[in-house]
Amino acid sequence: MSLTLEEYHRLTPLPRPGGVLYVKPGARGYRDPVYDLLQRVVAPFGQRALDLNPGVGWGSLPLEGRMAVERLETSRAAFRCLEASGLKARLAPPWEAEEGVFDLVVLALPAGRGTAYVQASLVAAARALRMGGRLYLAGDKNKGFERYFKEARALLGYGEVLERKGPVRVALLEKEREAPPLPPLWQSFRAPLLGEAYTFFHLPGVFSAGKVDRASVLLLEALRGEVGLGGLREKAVLDLGAGYGALTLPLVRLGARVVAVEDDLVSVLSLKKSLEANHLSARVLHSDVDEALTEEERFDIIVTNPPFHVGGAVILDVAQAFVEAAAARLKPGGGFFLVANPFLKYEPLLEERFGAFRTLLVREYKVLFALKEGGRR
Ligand SMILES: C[S@@+](CC[C@H](N)C(=O)[O-])C[C@H]1O[C@@H](n2cnc3c(N)ncnc32)[C@H](O)[C@@H]1O
Repeated sequence: MSLTLEEYHRLTPLPRPGGVLYVKPGARGYRDPVYDLLQRVVAPFGQRALDLNPGVGWGSLPLEGRMAVERLETSRAAFRCLEASGLKARLAPPWEAEEGVFDLVVLALPAGRGTAYVQASLVAAARALRMGGRLYLAGDKNKGFERYFKEARALLGYGEVLERKGPVRVALLEKEREAPPLPPLWQSFRAPLLGEAYTFFHLPGVFSAGKVDRASVLLLEALRGEVGLGGLREKAVLDLGAGYGALTLPLVRLGARVVAVEDDLVSVLSLKKSLEANHLSARVLHSDVDEALTEEERFDIIVTNPPFHVGGAVILDVAQAFVEAAAARLKPGGGFFLVANPFLKYEPLLEERFGAFRTLLVREYKVLFALKEGGRR
């Protein structure tokens, strides 16, 4: 059963001691075994705590009201929940944490975001703690917990695993030595797309760091085949889940007026810097799917390389919401281009929402195209 767009955007209140905790589809950190174990184990220590990967806030919730708890979150979807729950939070990457002032840091390892992001988070945790401060580190041993726990011990000092459940671990460490400086954060690389060269900039944790994803290249090729290079001039285009801009930049260069929506702050910052470096401009919105668009905004073309279905319900919900948003946000006669792994079954949903679809290309990935009824493009 797929969610409607309205259901996707709806916040659901859950009872918690002293208030409610809001959750929503697409927001991390709830019904997740790592956050569940963390939530069972964390205990107050000192006055000030910092959660560096809070999601909806479940993991560090037992500290609320017993210490001053701050949270840094990069996902717009999760941040909406934190705000609604009245939990103190700031939209910022972990490396922007205040330094040397926290008695306690809580970190659910952001394993899905790649090594560079996890390592930057660990150094940020070490720098945020005062000497003698403590770190709760939670993770899954099938997603690198042992390796990162070892790295955290090398950064901080003493540490031991407090609790195990299946592959999930929660460790407690104590800061015994000065933390090293943050690793270099910005990276850049060059890539040719549709016959032009671009310089992309990105921070740790973005999708397809260091190299444009093959699926994005194929989407651009299929789009050129369908509308032609001149066919984008002055078109209103929406890039759903824009990342650092592998689709946005070439579309802007070809004359489209692009609105790029992206849930992850680190990707938003990367996209803005990439546009600037290439002297291009687009409207970039930090947005959970289409949440930051005005109600009446509509587009001639919508493109997306949606987040992968890696088995997590969160990701599945988001990919479906992208299709729903495309169906809702296209002008009559507008076209939707989606690239996906051949084994992912978007076709039934496209058929249901658009009445029909075409497969434009199948190689390592497939590019699907659906037209919104009711006019000419
Ligand atoms: C497969 S990547 C594609 C990125 C970029 N378009 C490209 O082609 O390289 C999917 C992107 O969707 C973003 N995303 C995930 N959930 C989202 C949501 N709820 N709303 C908007 N963007 C989201 C991810 O952060 C990621 O950047």
